[in-house]
Amino acid sequence: MRILAVIGALAIVIGLGAAAFFFGGFYSVAATAEDPAVVTWALTWVRTVSIDRHADDQPPASFNIGDAAAVQSGAKAFAAHGCTNCHGAPGVNWAKFSEGLHPDPPDLKDVVDQLSPAQLFWVVKNGINMTGMPSFALAGAKDDEIWSIVAS
Ligand code: HEC
Repeated sequence: MRILAVIGALAIVIGLGAAAFFFGGFYSVAATAEDPAVVTWALTWVRTVSIDRHADDQPPASFNIGDAAAVQSGAKAFAAHGCTNCHGAPGVNWAKFSEGLHPDPPDLKDVVDQLSPAQLFWVVKNGINMTGMPSFALAGAKDDEIWSIVAS
């Protein structure tokens, strides 16, 4: 019984300590703060499984993902929506501010092979919360346009 009381008391003390740390302003939200490896691992895990579970949209039946015209209009939309500022593209300079984002926006040619078209669509449409990755549905992009970006 005594041991349970000690564990309970410890849990309360740890909870109060954590609350004071975060709500008292001691935690730094600076983008320059390094994350411990375990935090990076956990965030990557949460992002990967979340995208996996949510991404179930399919392109409209009329849409052919390998279509040259879709690829071309997707490349245009990629530049027009400013993706190049954060992610770069062949022959385009990344905006200087992209170096200051935390987490770092990935070079998309390194990640496209790891994500299915449905997952790419979901990320571009919904964004990734609390990172610099915006939701382009909120930014006014239509689904068709997002599919063309996926194609490109
Ligand atoms: C303001 C900067 C910014 C802009 C603009 C931006 N992104 Fe991102 N994007 C990010 C960041 C930061 C991440 C990394 C998020 C993370 O590590 O969880 C990201 C991640 C991604 C990912 C990968 C997710 C993964 O699971 O690896 C894709 C795909 C992506 N962006 C596509 C796009 C496309 C397409 C556009 C334009 C329509 C775009 N982004 C515009 C900042 C941006």
